[in-house]
Amino acid sequence: MRKQMKADGDSSVHEGERFDPFHDPYLADPYPFFAEARAVTPVFYSPDLDYWVVTRYHDIRQIFQTPKLFSAANTLAPLQPICPAAGHLLAEGGFRPVPTLTNSDPPGHTRVRRLATIAFTPRRVAAMEPFVRELTARSVENRLSSGRADLVRDLAWDLPALVIFRVLGIPDEDVARVKAGAESRLLLMWGRPNEDQQIRLVQGMAAFWRYAETLVASRAEHRRDDFTSDLLLARDGDLPALNHQEVTQIVYELLFAGHETTTGLIGNVLRRLLTERHGWEEICRDPSLIPNAIEEVLRFDSSIIAWRRKTTEAVEIGGARVPAGANLLLLLGSATAIPRSSRTPNASTSIGTMPRSTSPSGSERTIAWVRRWLASRRALCSRS
Ligand code: HEM
Repeated sequence: MRKQMKADGDSSVHEGERFDPFHDPYLADPYPFFAEARAVTPVFYSPDLDYWVVTRYHDIRQIFQTPKLFSAANTLAPLQPICPAAGHLLAEGGFRPVPTLTNSDPPGHTRVRRLATIAFTPRRVAAMEPFVRELTARSVENRLSSGRADLVRDLAWDLPALVIFRVLGIPDEDVARVKAGAESRLLLMWGRPNEDQQIRLVQGMAAFWRYAETLVASRAEHRRDDFTSDLLLARDGDLPALNHQEVTQIVYELLFAGHETTTGLIGNVLRRLLTERHGWEEICRDPSLIPNAIEEVLRFDSSIIAWRRKTTEAVEIGGARVPAGANLLLLLGSATAIPRSSRTPNASTSIGTMPRSTSPSGSERTIAWVRRWLASRRALCSRS
């Protein structure tokens, strides 16, 4: 199978053989590799991963916008197949994933997305703002006031988790448990664990799944004012309601997507601003620049370096012939790290339509857009 996927005598093979996302120098800083690949071989086959790697903004954008040709079915699978013993343990541990949002295609995706959007009301988003402000102010005051702190450990690690927990209806004291589950999942999905490590990680992942399942069962019995309960109640005309397993899958996804991404974002923003002090000082003088600064860091220091799709038929991507059924690794970190001028104004990305500011320090338009985006996305980043 692996050999069949390989492009015959193609220049992409050379880049593919050099591509090693599990070790330095890529792990320490993938951006030099991104720049070279974009310029020399923007789409290449990695025989080691058995993935086609896509590096350019316009190709990735096109892939996200064409679900018929590019399925999301592989987005939550381990990057490398797990050993039979780990697979067995995972099933025995009660792990029963179903396609819902991240890992599904229209029309199934459209149905779940519609019901999830009904459950995640603007009222719920608006009601969160005072809580987020108060929690952030309290965390900064309690943890950062001694003059010395680790900004990731003491702030970025649990702040977003506490927010999404409030949305889902999870007690604050479960942060460490959920973060440990999310870590098992991350390492299994995106790492290259050996068989012993896989056995350990699948146990953490199954426990993480059961945690979501128990939460859903408890809300099915006693409804509360939280998103988990609202997902169980969501209805839209003749659309079949979400069943317990689907709600478990959505909660399971949010217990990862709803905080790991933002933890990365907060860390990246603070690191950038504290090493490039002029930006920090400018923001201290004018806090209205914050939304634009966040968006810029998302652009050149992506919280999600890579994402995935699978081809449904043979297709050409950026000049490369890719067979049907091929796994694609979309290097989002590479795609968005290009100069603003390389994108069309108002170019659409997978998470919305982002106007690029034209002044170096940000514009009203961008700030207004970020506000609109935050209000309208209802926690769901998206294709639709
Ligand atoms: C820096 C912050 C974030 C980034 C960079 C990010 C990025 C992404 C990306 C790349 C996808 C995959 C889109 C696709 O396959 O089409 C995604 C999906 C998703 N994200 Fe986020 N995300 C962030 C924050 C969040 C937060 C805070 C939440 C929840 C509160 C969230 C919930 C979701 C959900 C539910 C999906 C699946 C949406 C669907 O398939 O319709 N994300 N996100």
